[in-house]
Amino acid sequence: MSKSRVRHHVNPLRSQFLGRTLAPLDLPPTGEIEVELGCADARFLFERAPHVPDTLLVGLEIRDKMVALVNRTAGELGLRNLRAHFAHVNVDLPQLFPDGRLTRAFINFPDPWFKRRHRKRRLVDPELVETLYRKLRPSGELFFQSDVYELALDALAVLEDAPDRFQNVAGPWSFLLDNPFGARSLREARCEARQLRIWRMLYVRV
Ligand SMILES: C[S@@+](CC[C@H](N)C(=O)[O-])C[C@H]1O[C@@H](n2cnc3c(N)ncnc32)[C@H](O)[C@@H]1O
Repeated sequence: MSKSRVRHHVNPLRSQFLGRTLAPLDLPPTGEIEVELGCADARFLFERAPHVPDTLLVGLEIRDKMVALVNRTAGELGLRNLRAHFAHVNVDLPQLFPDGRLTRAFINFPDPWFKRRHRKRRLVDPELVETLYRKLRPSGELFFQSDVYELALDALAVLEDAPDRFQNVAGPWSFLLDNPFGARSLREARCEARQLRIWRMLYVRV
């Protein structure tokens, strides 16, 4: 029996992800869109779907086998408003959506790269924050969570450095106590089962 191996980590600095352009996504002209950056199996979006049946839920993921898995599962469940696309978020996000088209962006437990020397591989950096500012509509929301304090603190610092772009719902330099979206990602559920502390932030786009 042949086994299909799903890589656990992909190095986002690999040259195959750079120097190419993805086409804009085929999107409905109107209606709300929420996106999870680095969705893996998209458990978060599958749990979110019943809460927002009229919203299009899009997962972006760099591991194409996970993309195929998400789309197969959505098909099996008959979920027409949930889908995943292959993307390197830091490279491709500007092309994928028109400006101002997103209602919400979720960044759930973004990287395995938490060591300081891996900082340049991290998902949340000033460039991503600027791109999300352009892609979210005014009053759109950006939710971030991680169980790695250093990662969360770095993301907090990047976002607090853009007060003309995003405002922290919990107050400046503050974490949110809970996840208000009625959905748990796989990593989140695992952290909660182990009673690990989760660092969450919710920002509103100015
Ligand atoms: C630690 S997992 C968390 C998955 C899920 N969000 C959760 O909370 O269970 C991080 C995911 O982000 C993906 N990822 C990492 N860097 C990415 C990038 N630059 N663009 C797209 N996906 C990325 C990884 O492949 C992985 O599936």
